[in-house]
Amino acid sequence: MLILCIESSCDETAAAVVRDGREMLSNVIASQVDVHARYGGVVPELASRKHVEAISVVINSALEEAGVSIDQIEGIGVTRGPGLIGALLVGLSTAKAMSWMLGIPLAAIHHMEGHILAPLLEEAPPEFPFLALAVSGGHTHLYRVDGIGCYRTLGQTLDDAAGEAYDKVAKLLGLGYPGGVLIDQLAVQGNPNAIAFPRPMLHKPNCNFSFSGLKTAVRQYVDKYQKPLDNKHMADIAASFQAAVVEVLTKKTLRTAADEGLKRIVVAGGVACNSGLRTRFGELSAKHGVKIYFPSPSLCGDNAAMLGVAANYYLVKGRHADNAVNAVSSWMLDVVGAA
Ligand code: KG4
Ligand code: ZN
Repeated sequence: MLILCIESSCDETAAAVVRDGREMLSNVIASQVDVHARYGGVVPELASRKHVEAISVVINSALEEAGVSIDQIEGIGVTRGPGLIGALLVGLSTAKAMSWMLGIPLAAIHHMEGHILAPLLEEAPPEFPFLALAVSGGHTHLYRVDGIGCYRTLGQTLDDAAGEAYDKVAKLLGLGYPGGVLIDQLAVQGNPNAIAFPRPMLHKPNCNFSFSGLKTAVRQYVDKYQKPLDNKHMADIAASFQAAVVEVLTKKTLRTAADEGLKRIVVAGGVACNSGLRTRFGELSAKHGVKIYFPSPSLCGDNAAMLGVAANYYLVKGRHADNAVNAVSSWMLDVVGAA
């Protein structure tokens, strides 16, 4: 089945063409980063307006790159939530209008379902069941994944998401937005053992996370020094912060996999691009007897192709979304299969 996928949950307008939930024919992303950078974060109203401007261009590019015409498309997959409601509505309204106009079915997909199934578009995809660590700007969740539509939340952050902590620490270091990639680049030049930042929730016997206290510890540390900090000091702060995040994420994920008897782990979402996280999981996987699956970087951040796996599954099964389907800003992944 040839599916057009549309994603607009935050600050990327994205469209893709995916065949049979497996073969990515195109994956076009128009980023709004430049628009939001000067405000230090995503401004929801601006995001919606930019999606409106970009959506048709991005869809046309996705069709063109895939070498298919609109009348060859057999179904549409779109992000329904969670995300910024105004931003989501642009993609969803476009998808609903196209589905009605072309007389083809619609699948309304959970954004995190897209993220955690992205490795199924790669060569040598993971088999079910697996543990998914979903780490992005809004999520730090551990899900047990028994199949498409079969998700159970095992743990989640109790406050800030990992990506949010990265962005906030980057802001307080004056690095700019979005900060994750900037801290990652700076961390490579620093000493990860220079500052002993806390490892929140590491020894708690549960699968939850917390990053707000770690961010506060970085703020308190920075406040002790006269600014501007020199480059070496900045790099040491970035490396020590990253070491704390990576240690908590890797250790709690591996412990959860062992508790659940799972030998495969998917790491997905924007923070899955992080070089420290990729390296550390790589080092620990053999020792723990698990295989780790990272999507390639273009499939880690927000994109539309990642929706194609679930969209194909639901559409082939005849589980079409009603044309009255609405966007939702929050939505538990555990209930999507039952919808
Ligand atoms: O999945 P995503 O693109 O959007 C959301 O659904 O939130 O994730 C964006 C998040 C941002 O917080 C960004 O700073 C973070 O992913 N991120 C990174 C890296 N690249 C992106 N965090 C750490 N290291 C990176 N290399
Ligand atoms: Zn995302």
